[in-house]
Amino acid sequence: MVTRKDLIDKYLEFFKSKGHKVIPSASLIPSNDPTVLFTTAGMHPLVPYLLGQKHPLGKRLVNVQKCIRTTDIDEVGDETHHTFFEMLGNWSLGDYWKEDAIKYSYEFLTKTLQILPGKISVTCFKGDKNAQQDTESEKVWKLLKIKNIKFLGKEDNWWGPAGETGPCGPDTEMFVNGLEIWNDVFMQYNKTAEGKFIPLQQKNVDTGMGVERTLAILNNLDDNYLTDAWKPIINEIEEISGEKYKDNKKIMRIIADHLKASVFIIGDGVLPSNTGQGYVLRKLIRRAIYYGKEI
Ligand code: ALA
Repeated sequence: MVTRKDLIDKYLEFFKSKGHKVIPSASLIPSNDPTVLFTTAGMHPLVPYLLGQKHPLGKRLVNVQKCIRTTDIDEVGDETHHTFFEMLGNWSLGDYWKEDAIKYSYEFLTKTLQILPGKISVTCFKGDKNAQQDTESEKVWKLLKIKNIKFLGKEDNWWGPAGETGPCGPDTEMFVNGLEIWNDVFMQYNKTAEGKFIPLQQKNVDTGMGVERTLAILNNLDDNYLTDAWKPIINEIEEISGEKYKDNKKIMRIIADHLKASVFIIGDGVLPSNTGQGYVLRKLIRRAIYYGKEI
């Protein structure tokens, strides 16, 4: 069994060996990005540095970031969506660009994690009126002998800004056996309130790899709840509820998901209320109670 800790340690070590400094997981309540309620990706704490401010630890950073996403809340309870999850990420703040970012991703996947290259497929940005087709990324993937390369539009191969304004750019996504596990975003634009894409003073790389999903793939599991990011909790629930678990698996997973997210939000200093983060927290708790009543 590859554990959550194994994966995180390997990722941080790999990027340390490539000159990256480890930064701690920031709070779920963003202090550097007023455009979002929660930290939904590792880039939020880094917004000022993506926009050009000097980071005290330099131009190469890596971390594992706790995240909250409520956009997929209706999918929660299936095998792969969670309200709270962790994201591994590495950043270049005006340092390396597409070629090195993609080569690092490929080396980590195939050498460190030993994923067979034949299982990897990728997508690149096909271009639109604001930005050209990303043939630069395609070239690097071809050099690495990846055969399955698709070009897709903005809805798939563009990331950010997470709120209305901020850093964003085309991305290249990596899939293993058809499941997306890693996204390398080439943040070279700042989207303004008027909807314009202004080139940033520096070209940045922002990547994100979902811990729970990647763990499932590495362990040949098709269900994140069977990885050690969830299994100890699921075991407890099964033990307490016995036969009832089988009949109400989805509901119990939703409740577990919402409670886990609530605990981490409360841990970062939020209390239930009727505005902002407190409102989301109250909704999560209410949903958990609602589903609890169903059983
Ligand atoms: N910020 C990018 C994402 O969340 C890496 O996919």
